[in-house]
Amino acid sequence: MPLELLSVTSEVYPLVKTGGLADVAGALPAALARQDIIVTTLMPGYPAVLQAIGEGVPVRRYENLMGGPGTLRRGRAADLDLLVLDAPHLFARDGNPYLGPDGRDWPDNALRFAALARVAADIAEGALGSYAPDIVQAHDWQAGLTPAYLHYNRPTRRPPVLTTIHNLAFQGVFPAYLLGTLGLPAEAFALDGLEYFGAISFLKGGILFADHITTVSPSYAREITTAQGGMGLEGLLAGRARDLSGILNGIDTSVWDPANDPSIPAAFSASDLTGRPKDKAALQAEFGLDTAPDAFLVASVGRLTEQKGLDLLLGALPALIEEGVQFAILGSGDRTLEAAFLAAASRHPGQVGCRIGYDEGLAHLVQAGADALVVPSRFEPCGLTQLCALRYGSVPVVSQVGGLADTVIDASPVALRQGVATGFQFTPPSARMLTDALRRAAKLFREDRTAWQRLQQNGLATDVSWDSAAREYAALFRKLLSPPSA
Ligand code: ADP
Ligand code: GLC
Repeated sequence: MPLELLSVTSEVYPLVKTGGLADVAGALPAALARQDIIVTTLMPGYPAVLQAIGEGVPVRRYENLMGGPGTLRRGRAADLDLLVLDAPHLFARDGNPYLGPDGRDWPDNALRFAALARVAADIAEGALGSYAPDIVQAHDWQAGLTPAYLHYNRPTRRPPVLTTIHNLAFQGVFPAYLLGTLGLPAEAFALDGLEYFGAISFLKGGILFADHITTVSPSYAREITTAQGGMGLEGLLAGRARDLSGILNGIDTSVWDPANDPSIPAAFSASDLTGRPKDKAALQAEFGLDTAPDAFLVASVGRLTEQKGLDLLLGALPALIEEGVQFAILGSGDRTLEAAFLAAASRHPGQVGCRIGYDEGLAHLVQAGADALVVPSRFEPCGLTQLCALRYGSVPVVSQVGGLADTVIDASPVALRQGVATGFQFTPPSARMLTDALRRAAKLFREDRTAWQRLQQNGLATDVSWDSAAREYAALFRKLLSPPSA
């Protein structure tokens, strides 16, 4: 029997994206459809989303949803079935979904995402009549209050809710005085409620009141139950360890397909890598690097933040530049890191290239042309860029944390001998260990091209699609729906 899943999310590729959550929310529906799970995605009606669905079909009106009127519209865009929350007082704002033009969080983010969860709970309770999901998946803190509303409302219809944590660093913590405004009872301000160090936490609600919690890799699922990785929620998560599991993300292998990619000049595949040097030359030209086929070219794509450990790369840069390594950096984020990479590029023209900004097409070229992709994260729930790297023959050099640890096979002597390695791992995340790992990679690249190509081919042969994750989610959903055995 097909299952109806309501996926509640604040971003969806290709409509609105700030990071991997959008990729996941955008790609999982098609993969789940192959498991007989029909996904409807509930998301905020940002201008770009409303434009994509046209008018849509109004299915429910709210006279007062956190301070203004709202209309829930059904529509289709980007091959997705959408329920879009058109509430102009909350979402009629262009640009980043969370930040205002001054780069700070919108002051009413609590109301904006509580509204999303409130509506999700209504739909779950059966408010739409014609559509009532069998199960709900609430992504991250933005959807975190969904099971909390269901808990405090005590509705007669209450489908199971799965909370999926993509990043514990963002918890949705707001002043407790907002409880009433959010339509939550005073009793919610309690240890076994939303109370969190004197404030309220949306993600805590998501963890506490969900039927099950997933995160996006098995290693991260373990890490977040420890003081080191739990970011204050480790006690709560450890308490729910029986209902906590990790399901590794995939990537959309039709969007990321080196054999058929309009963003790269030369196609290639696992069985034929001969086009790749052309992509490397194009990448070198694009980043102002010397066109040197034999230079070891290391790239990075992603947010320039503390999480991603790009400051460690800055620390590793001088020694590796000395040794002739080239660097291509694509990213944006922390202003100090942006400035430092730009400065490195102007100090070392031809050897360090840097592009500050967000550019999907360029990300494809970087993955297709680089020899190695470096991801030195301090923590990483899953990470998608190393999966894209595997699929594009760019050998990942990653810190051994979270999903990075789970997706890359280190080129240890035994893995090399057995021909199973796909990249390089290092631990702990420090400039020194990163330098060592990049040196190890550079040495293999320079001294044993056959072994290097084997790494690339193993990467290209790795299944990074959504198929196995979709099977795991499907099994979990069916388990959550089956009555507990006596
Ligand atoms: P996170 O969600 O923590 O930022 P992920 O690795 O899960 O990290 O996902 C990041 C996604 O955003 C990937 O699809 C990556 O290619 C993309 N991305 C990040 N920064 C950029 C950029 N500057 N230009 C293009 N794509 C980017
Ligand atoms: C988060 C994490 C990242 C993960 C992504 C999608 O943004 O930082 O590791 O890949 O979500 O789940």
